[in-house]
Amino acid sequence: MRIAMIGTGYVGLVSGACFSDFGHDVVCVDKDSGKIEALRQGKMPIFEPGLDKLVERNVQGGRLAFTTDLEQGVAGAEAVFIAVGTPSRRGDGHADLSYVFGAAEEIARALRGPAVVVTKSTVPVGTGDEVERIIRETAPDTRAWVVSNPEFLREGAAIEDFKRPDRIVVGTDDAEAAEVMREIYRPLYLNKAPLLFTGRRTAELIKYAANAFLATKITFINEISDLCEIVGADVQDVARGIGLDNRIGAKFLHAGPGYGGSCFPKDTLALLKTAEDHQAPLRIVESVVKVNEARKRAMGRKVVQALGGDARGRTVALLGLTFKPNTDDMRDAPSLSIVQALQDAGASVRGYDPEGTEQARPLMPGVEFLDSPYRAAAGADAAVLVTEWDVLRALDLRRLAQDMAQPVFVDLRSVYPPEEVEEAGLRWFGIGRAPRG
Ligand SMILES: NC(=O)c1ccc[n+]([C@@H]2O[C@H](COP(=O)([O-])OP(=O)(O)OC[C@H]3O[C@@H](n4cnc5c(N)ncnc54)[C@H](O)[C@@H]3O)[C@@H](O)[C@H]2O)c1
Repeated sequence: MRIAMIGTGYVGLVSGACFSDFGHDVVCVDKDSGKIEALRQGKMPIFEPGLDKLVERNVQGGRLAFTTDLEQGVAGAEAVFIAVGTPSRRGDGHADLSYVFGAAEEIARALRGPAVVVTKSTVPVGTGDEVERIIRETAPDTRAWVVSNPEFLREGAAIEDFKRPDRIVVGTDDAEAAEVMREIYRPLYLNKAPLLFTGRRTAELIKYAANAFLATKITFINEISDLCEIVGADVQDVARGIGLDNRIGAKFLHAGPGYGGSCFPKDTLALLKTAEDHQAPLRIVESVVKVNEARKRAMGRKVVQALGGDARGRTVALLGLTFKPNTDDMRDAPSLSIVQALQDAGASVRGYDPEGTEQARPLMPGVEFLDSPYRAAAGADAAVLVTEWDVLRALDLRRLAQDMAQPVFVDLRSVYPPEEVEEAGLRWFGIGRAPRG
């Protein structure tokens, strides 16, 4: 199958590389010439474990190519995927669909034969109808079927997720288009990944409902975590105790500094806008969004409390800055709110991240970036574990205690048992259980 992937970001690049690994011929297209030039030289524009090898193997095999020329990429393609960004629209939180609609128009102009146009970007209900209208109006003589195929991969585990998905959702009512999609994903459903066919609008909504549910689960345990701190319970045990119930499940029950990243914040907001527009309010999701926003900043206040209530003139080292480990993605990372809260309280902030420094730097004015967690913490008044990268899971806590000006360790990911932290000579602060002492 000949596939064009429009948009070569986190989703487009991983999807395109994985499709080529299944044996399809894939051309990845992006407007960003820097990205395409880097990819042609074998340099990955994002950090994603295993991606460089996957890309190299398939480029060498002649199945994967990169171009900025959409017309050339789309020529002869039987399926054209739209994987461009759908960020929050400034001001109102609606999904900004200008990239999707722009791509649809360009695709329509470039199509020379019948093709399935597949929206992989996360888009609000009804977007497929609009994409179809744009294509019909731009190229009235071209046969094109518009299908929804939302993507569920997680950054940091994207290749594994793409190749071993829990399910593949395909939204179309058209038998021919369904057959093309079946062919594209054949290697996966031979591996027993369920291929779920639904209506197009249903597929679009499944993606938002899934993200809103996961965001709700995280926010639920985060609020339970706050309660644990007050009543003297332990949130990790509560999570284990409820997660062992099959009806609940153990995943996404890890209390932390609030969800961030490129999807949950913008997708929950966009879903609320869709609900509002259709006068079907989603009050649970409304609360989730508010609670999560407040939580990210509250984490900054927690650090100030750990410093005795006054951060003015103090130095705080943030260990891990990306919204989660194994990605360099800084979009809506909780660290951004924490930095802001600390700077507002008069603290100087230092940061360390194994992969995200380059992305973090322009977003965090005034922060000093160091190339090791120990250098970041040396002379600091508090060290805060924000993102649980592997290299931060086995810190030499004694070394930290010796090098810091004050031995304050704030663990926002519950990586270290408080006893271990204190044995090393640090004072433990964290979430989900009462402070010790
Ligand atoms: N990042 C994730 O983990 C993830 C997971 C599931 C779904 N999604 C969804 O997938 C979509 C893409 O997300 P992303 O994180 O990959 O975005 P991204 O910002 O990393 O990449 C989007 C790319 O599209 C390119 N682009 C925009 N318009 C174009 C056009 N007309 N022609 C060619 N290229 C164009 C941009 O230059 C950019 O490189 C979004 O809707 C997102 O919500 C993301």
